[in-house]
Amino acid sequence: MIKHKIALIGFGTVGQGFIEILLEKNFFLKNQYGFEFDVVGISDIAYGTVYNPDGLDLSEILEDICIGRSFTQDSRSWQALDLIKYSNATVLCEMTYTNLKTGEPAISHCKAALNNGKHVVTCNKGPAALAYSELKTLADSKGLRFLIEGTVMSGTPLLNMADGPLSGCEIIAAQGILNGTTNYILTRMEAGLTYENALKEAQGLGYAEADPSGDVEGYDTRGKVTIIANVVMGTSLKLEEVACNGITGITHNDIEQASLEGCKWKLIGTIKKNGNTIIASVSPEKIPLSHPLAGVMGAMNAVTFTTDLLGDVSIMGPGAGRKETGFSILNDILRIK
Ligand code: HSE
Repeated sequence: MIKHKIALIGFGTVGQGFIEILLEKNFFLKNQYGFEFDVVGISDIAYGTVYNPDGLDLSEILEDICIGRSFTQDSRSWQALDLIKYSNATVLCEMTYTNLKTGEPAISHCKAALNNGKHVVTCNKGPAALAYSELKTLADSKGLRFLIEGTVMSGTPLLNMADGPLSGCEIIAAQGILNGTTNYILTRMEAGLTYENALKEAQGLGYAEADPSGDVEGYDTRGKVTIIANVVMGTSLKLEEVACNGITGITHNDIEQASLEGCKWKLIGTIKKNGNTIIASVSPEKIPLSHPLAGVMGAMNAVTFTTDLLGDVSIMGPGAGRKETGFSILNDILRIK
């Protein structure tokens, strides 16, 4: 296996989780997969930019973050785009905050990396929801990879399942719980917490977006629905074509009433393909306890694909989190040969 030189743009919860995994599993990864790496650069709007073509000292980097100071070693007066253009990185991990309006600055980072001969791995939903086709075509034209597993269900391998084990099946519908924060909030409200306290807990656990309205208004789920439709079902759906309602209108009374009726409220994303027509939506639904999605609790996510050859195939697993999404970055890098 080649020795990857990795650069990270954005060093928040997920980036730090990814580096922790690399440090903890260094020997396992080498023994099991022959995986060797140098992390040569990191650029973050809060901590600055560091670059060492022979590899950074990752323990020291984490120590800087832990005590809340800017990077100290190998510091450069570079912006993110300088690191992308001038570093010797072979893989760029784009992990800046998701922007589902313009996709920027992440789309520009991905384009610059691909145009400079670097593979791109990202858990950022902006480029995946708004520019997947353009970026995948650019990557293919240069013999590079544009890998996005972490954009949907964190490290739970939904997109890779469709691309790998389900190859040959046509996926004609998908239905699922795709946002960890809202599912966590609904679960904790069932246990008696207020909406505000449940949201605070979700933020503390690193599930929520920088602006949590992206979660609770359903926009994050809408981004993931769009990604599934375009990446897995081969459509060219636009975000604004997905009808979207979040959970902000769900009250304690609604939750108690549902419980009396033997039901639960869940935020459900749905995609149905009918010939060339695609219908997709995001909406809170009151589902009976017997429904397969009723038992999906906390930050867990689950999706059922309806396929032509296998019927329904479901996958359930973590939908958000530091290590859970950090793992998606590692897993995608392991796929680059
Ligand atoms: N805010 C997102 C969620 C993070 O709660 O699911 C993972 O995409």
